[in-house]
Amino acid sequence: MADEQDPAAGISRRGFLKGVGGGLLGGAALNEGLIGAQVAAAAGPEPLKGPQAIQLKINGAARQVNVEPRTTLLAALRDQLGLTGSKEVCDRGQCGACTVLLDGEAVLACMILALDARGHEITTVEGLAQGDQLSPVQQAFVDHDGLMCGFCTPGLVMASTALLRQTPDPTPEQIRLGVSGNLCRCGTYPKVFAAVEDAARRLKGGG
Ligand code: FES
Ligand code: FES
Repeated sequence: MADEQDPAAGISRRGFLKGVGGGLLGGAALNEGLIGAQVAAAAGPEPLKGPQAIQLKINGAARQVNVEPRTTLLAALRDQLGLTGSKEVCDRGQCGACTVLLDGEAVLACMILALDARGHEITTVEGLAQGDQLSPVQQAFVDHDGLMCGFCTPGLVMASTALLRQTPDPTPEQIRLGVSGNLCRCGTYPKVFAAVEDAARRLKGGG
C-alpha cells in the first residue's frame, strides 16, 4: 500500500505508526524498569545470612545470643539460654505451651523470630517468682491443683498472668477466652479456671 501523506499535517501514515510503535516500545522498557525498581523496593533490604550476635532483654536482664535469622525466640530461650520453662510442643502456633510475655502481651515464642524480639521486654515463666516466692498466679495454680502432667502449665500461667494484668476482674467467660489458646491434653481446665479466679482475688488483695 502506498504511503499516504496528509499534506496539511505533513505526517505520513507509516511515519505515524512507526512513531507510535517506538513510543510503545519505549514505554514498555520504561515500565519494565519501574516494575523492577518496585519489586526491589518491595523485597526490602538484603536478607541476613549466618549467625547474628544479638542482645535480648529477658526477665529484666540483657542476654547475648548468637542466632540464625530463622531461629525462633523459643529456640533461643530453650537451646541457648537454658530457659526451658517455655515448652516446645507443636512448634507451629497451635498449643500455647510456649507462651511468654512480650512487653506484657502474651505471645507464642515459637512464632516469633529471635531477631524480631530485639528491643522488647521478654518475660518467661522463670521471671515470675521473686526468689522462692511464687507469683500469685503460680501459687493459685499450685493451691488449686491446676495441673497434671504440667506440660501446658507454664503457658497457661503466662497467658493467665497477661489476662489478669489487662483484666484484673475477669468474668468466667473472660477467663475462658483468655486461656483459650492454651491446650491441655490432661483436661485440667476446671481447676485452671478456679486458679485464675482465685489469683484475681489475691492480686486485688482479697487474700
Ligand atoms: S509450641 Fe508454640 S504454640 Fe505450640
Ligand atoms: S496438665 Fe498435662 S497437658 Fe495440661
